[in-house]
Amino acid sequence: MAFKILVTSQKGGVGKSTLSANLVAYLSRSLELPVTLIDWDPHGSSSNWLKQAPQVGAVIQHLALPVDQGGNRPIFEARLQMRRAASECDILVCDLTWSDSLAGELMFEFDMVLVPTSVSEIELAATSGFLSRHRWVFESASVRRPMLAVCPTRVLNEQLNSDVFTKQRFPVSFMLAPPVLEAQSARDLFERGYPLRHGRYDLRPG
Ligand SMILES: Nc1ncnc2c1ncn2[C@@H]1O[C@H](COP(=O)(O)OP(=O)(O)OP(=O)(O)O)[C@@H](O)[C@H]1O
Ligand SMILES: [Mg+2]
Repeated sequence: MAFKILVTSQKGGVGKSTLSANLVAYLSRSLELPVTLIDWDPHGSSSNWLKQAPQVGAVIQHLALPVDQGGNRPIFEARLQMRRAASECDILVCDLTWSDSLAGELMFEFDMVLVPTSVSEIELAATSGFLSRHRWVFESASVRRPMLAVCPTRVLNEQLNSDVFTKQRFPVSFMLAPPVLEAQSARDLFERGYPLRHGRYDLRPG
């Protein structure tokens, strides 16, 4: 049974696709695990980046999810696509921009929900609101509830010592991933194989 990770947030441009692509590259190349990426982003950013970067051996799929149809349709479709993909890998990473028309039940399909967020006060408040709306998922008594991890992304050096994160009140508890620093060259370097240069996941300012 594959371990399933959903990388999601309602906010655009917070680094979902960058995180998804780097995570897949790290798991596949550095840990040598059979990994599949399902890219549900219509723009196909993470799948394109992984196709352009030096090959890491992961299976890369750019699929459509009927996000706007609401109801259970997206969940049925996601389940089907995930079942097919999960039969051939140990870890499945899914890149999805969350939309209000999606039912929160979709998150129960995953073992882990990873939420990238920028660390400005406004962005953290938006992330807190997103977590609040899905609090019932992360606090559900079900043994199948997903683990929740929040990953600060595009963090500026001067933000490393600021207290915006600790000042924000979050409605649920979560694991806090190490910050991904803002690096203008993040994507360019990735395409040249940068995160793998030292054999580990690394996105430092270029
Ligand atoms: N750590 C970083 N440093 C600098 N630029 C970054 C970093 N992470 C992401 N970016 C850039 O920011 C832009 C948005 O990132 P990305 O596409 O990963 O976000 P997203 O949340 O997937 O966006 P969307 O909502 O459009 O799908 C991209 O151009 C990407 O290269
Ligand atoms: Mg994206």
